[in-house]
Amino acid sequence: MLSAIHPKILIITGLLFAVFAAALSAVEGAGPLPPVNLRCEYLVNPRGIDVKAPRLFWIPAHSARGQKQTAYQILVSSKPDCSMGDVWDSGKVDSEEFTQVVYKGKAPAGDATYYWKVRYWDNTGIESSYSAVASFDTGLFSRDDWKGSWIGGANELRKEFEISGPIVRARAYICGLGYYELRINGEKAGFNVLDPAWTTYDKRALYVTYDVTSMLRAGTNAVGVILGQGWYKNRALLLQMNLELANGKKMSVFTDTTWKAAGGPIIEDSVYNGEVYDARLETPGWDKAGFKDASWINAVVVPGPKGILSAQLMPPIQIMDTIVPLKMTNPKPGVFVFDLGQNASGWARLRVSGPRGTEVKMRFAELLYENGLLNQENLRSARAQDIYILKGEGEEVYEPRFTYHGFRYVELTGFPGVPTAETIRGRVVYSGVNQTGSFACSKPVLNALQRIITWGQKTNLHSIPTDCSQRDERMGWMGDAQGTAEEAIMNFDMAAFYTNFVRDIRDVQDDAGTITDTVPHIWGSRPADPAWGTAYPLICWYMYQYYGDVRILEEQYAGLKKYVDFLRTKAGNGLLTYSYYGDWVAVDKTPGSIVSSFYYFYDVKILAEVAKILGREENANAYGRLAEEIKAAFHKEYFDPKTGNYANGTQTANALALFLDLAPGDARGRAWGNLFDNVAYKNSSHLTTGIIGTKYIMEVLTRFDNSDLAYDIACQTTYPSWGYMIENGATTLWELWQKREGPSMNSHNHPMFGSVGAWLYKVLAGITPDPLAVGFKKIKFEPQMVRDLFYAAGSTETVRGRVLSSWKRTENSMTLEVIVPFGSEAEIVIPKFKLQNVAVAESGKTIWADKKLVSGTAGIMDIQENAQAVILKVGSGSYAFELSGK
Ligand code: BGC
Repeated sequence: MLSAIHPKILIITGLLFAVFAAALSAVEGAGPLPPVNLRCEYLVNPRGIDVKAPRLFWIPAHSARGQKQTAYQILVSSKPDCSMGDVWDSGKVDSEEFTQVVYKGKAPAGDATYYWKVRYWDNTGIESSYSAVASFDTGLFSRDDWKGSWIGGANELRKEFEISGPIVRARAYICGLGYYELRINGEKAGFNVLDPAWTTYDKRALYVTYDVTSMLRAGTNAVGVILGQGWYKNRALLLQMNLELANGKKMSVFTDTTWKAAGGPIIEDSVYNGEVYDARLETPGWDKAGFKDASWINAVVVPGPKGILSAQLMPPIQIMDTIVPLKMTNPKPGVFVFDLGQNASGWARLRVSGPRGTEVKMRFAELLYENGLLNQENLRSARAQDIYILKGEGEEVYEPRFTYHGFRYVELTGFPGVPTAETIRGRVVYSGVNQTGSFACSKPVLNALQRIITWGQKTNLHSIPTDCSQRDERMGWMGDAQGTAEEAIMNFDMAAFYTNFVRDIRDVQDDAGTITDTVPHIWGSRPADPAWGTAYPLICWYMYQYYGDVRILEEQYAGLKKYVDFLRTKAGNGLLTYSYYGDWVAVDKTPGSIVSSFYYFYDVKILAEVAKILGREENANAYGRLAEEIKAAFHKEYFDPKTGNYANGTQTANALALFLDLAPGDARGRAWGNLFDNVAYKNSSHLTTGIIGTKYIMEVLTRFDNSDLAYDIACQTTYPSWGYMIENGATTLWELWQKREGPSMNSHNHPMFGSVGAWLYKVLAGITPDPLAVGFKKIKFEPQMVRDLFYAAGSTETVRGRVLSSWKRTENSMTLEVIVPFGSEAEIVIPKFKLQNVAVAESGKTIWADKKLVSGTAGIMDIQENAQAVILKVGSGSYAFELSGK
């Protein structure tokens, strides 16, 4: 496509660049600025990490374009001022890397705090000053570091203890199953809720680390923990607080049978069914020193989970938002219904005053009947209700601790009097990943689509990616997880979350290499449907592609290989035919076997690539050859030379063959022709795909130069389409293309059809990460300015910094702003459409006219023009291009 860079342009732009750079460095404050956004294991100042060679990340900042880091120096210190690298001084390391940089200092001790900072040298050899100091805390590295035992016996556990003098440092390490709330001297520690993450507890249970230094004091202190059942369906607590006093003394407080236990006010708690809270059973002050606990029983030692204890290293579930209801209705005497205007996951906060013993019930639902009453039919067996029994002491504020619901509507019954605008608040609860992406364009239905995708996505992050947030499932269905992963990565910072989820997948793997449909495994089968099991290789692969993460490949290689080797034992003649769900919830059904064989090929191909990246040549070759065999078998089995179709010629069948280039020779053209006819004519630009076909078809249409058609599909408002959901009031994606509200399978918050979200960024905003220069080290900007779309903008925070693409067009001009992160390079394709004699200006200065370079600007390395587009190669920086013509 691109001819080689014209040497003259290189010289001219290079020269101009040098002049520009020289001019800049004369300016005060210009040149390399201190690195920002320091992270360790993807997290900002993480507490309690148990990775012994953690990876460090920073973003070098620079006032000039086209800059690169040429070297860095990291200092890691045991002292907060980090004035010297007593733990590690990397020295000046010649390297462009500022992501995934592996710590190579002294072996870190457990239960310690390390401070670090970094500086870098730019490509003119000038060094930045040091960054601000960041830190990471190590956790407890082995089971022997835990002094206490698992205890239980009741919902509330407490202990008082003496501290002999001022405290310098205190950390609390806690694994409270199923869920816990940690309280110290009457206050909740931290903001985590529904913690710790749900894992296969008999393989791996997660502990959480809190800095509790400021919550403790010399004298008598109290620690209290409330336990809920969560997914563990039982209660068990392991806690240890390690303290360092100013006088140099160290002490630990840990769980044992000297702790006291009592039932507390939570008399029922269940993820699906909700909580029953009797405020009359509260014992004020129980989590403070001096409380009389004589009537409390002694805690007992309980078995605890069999798995290893490992640090929770991802954003915890938190209350992320509070919603003021849009309206309250009163459809029946004594029944009040609040509408949040948004389907979400979480619970309601209730404000109430009334007589002691009054029982107020809140029920939750996604839907209403026409008469305004709550429709809970699609929740199936999930009761989704919280009951609060008043203590009768003025205003009482209640929110549950150990349950969550998926809902838009809250029904209130048993309320003493008439509720007011203050009575109910919606609390939006999910894993607190940062929203790092945004997309907007001139087509309202696509903005609405982006909105329902992101709401659906985030409210289905509950320490694992869930299928839905309301009914009696909320499982880590792997097909849903793999289908949405790229969309999730474009919209949210998923790196730490997926690192953990991939470990969750590894945890369910058995000796035969099989994994399961849901992770942790409750619903579905073992072995997983291949289109579900593929989440294991695919999410690892996306972690590598989007975040440049090689460690996850190393860590999971053995498991991935075992999984693929298992698939191989099930495959005959290069085909994998077993399938349970096929192209799940499609309008037109595709045989499951073609879906499974497609993923068999995909998984083997990924494994071959991973082996190559890890330098395992022999395996790379062997799996590469296997992939070729599967490819040939796939075509032989599924291609019908009479019709030119794969399998039964559904959109999905042909799209799968085309997506992974499984169609050789003229089969490719024929399958494409059939796919086009099917979409454009037979279905008037509608999809008939299920979640599998939907993930790939949009990208296939774009690859075959039919982004216009893909756009038509994306903008449809008639059945089946995303717009149809929106027109019918969806505020999160539905599970089905059909509008159904009865019992059975029709969730109204199911993110799996949201895979199109990645297409919005990649194609309409035009941001594509280069598959060979991973982690956005190279980017291609190629926005598709389709049909009536006259502007689109996408931006996403990558590991290397922010990437943005924002374009606008008029009759005879196009503007395109891009941001290329520091150290990255980009190719930018600005379409000319039918414009003749185009000229390109950058930041107001003409750089290209009459197919010739007029004048370069800093950062631009090359400009070319062909019949369709002007193509630029640029280094890092923000650019504003304007293409005009006649
Ligand atoms: C879940 C899906 C899942 C499917 C697999 C459903 O019950 O909600 O999203 O992928 O089962 O069959």
